[in-house]
Amino acid sequence: MHKPRSYSPEHLLYLSRIMEEYPAEEIRVIEFEEEDANDIAELFRQVWPLAVEYPEHWRKKRIYTPEQIINEMRNGFHFFGSRLQGQIVGVYKAKITDKGLYGEHQTVRPECRATGLASAMYIQFAEYGRAHGCKRNYCNILVGQEIGEKLMKKFGFRPWGEPYEQAEGMLVQMYERSL
Ligand SMILES: CC(C)(COP(=O)(O)OP(=O)(O)OC[C@H]1O[C@@H](n2cnc3c(N)ncnc32)[C@H](O)[C@@H]1OP(=O)(O)O)[C@@H](O)C(=O)NCCC(=O)NCCS
Repeated sequence: MHKPRSYSPEHLLYLSRIMEEYPAEEIRVIEFEEEDANDIAELFRQVWPLAVEYPEHWRKKRIYTPEQIINEMRNGFHFFGSRLQGQIVGVYKAKITDKGLYGEHQTVRPECRATGLASAMYIQFAEYGRAHGCKRNYCNILVGQEIGEKLMKKFGFRPWGEPYEQAEGMLVQMYERSL
């Protein structure tokens, strides 16, 4: 497996300001492979300890090891995302189910936020679903999470069912959009 590349936060911030100049449609979202598991795990390690909107037990669970990532890849999850000068700066995973294409675990490096990276992944989420004959995209959003709810509105998702406790003390709303 590759050793994760490492740039200083300042350098990544500089690069992400360049990325900001591009519309989300032009950010390339690719599918990662097993050899990328170390880099993905490194991104989870950087982001999830700081995602304080979520309960601590959930944040800890989101910090996958490379082995967990590979295991999920072998069990039907596709990991998609983007690299910036070689380094993985955004990722999410998706699985085709009998209900459609399910997405979760979206993670963007702090220095690269608000550049359209999550938006680019939502565009690709629809494209991948359509290309694979899925009738809908669906995902869970933490109730009250401003950016998540904004993204749902921006990409035409609608609440699907009632909010529910995905994990202890963690209320989420499932959303769907028809493809
Ligand atoms: C949620 C997350 C993936 C969004 O990533 P992102 O790449 O910054 O999202 P985008 O750049 O596409 O921005 C989406 C919208 O939110 C806005 N936004 C982004 N960061 C913001 C902030 N801190 N405050 C207010 N608005 C913000 C953007 O301006 C954009 O709105 P616009 O399209 O009207 O311009 C990222 O914040 C993250 O990794 N958070 C921690 C993990 C997490 O909560 N994941 C969600 C799992 S469902």
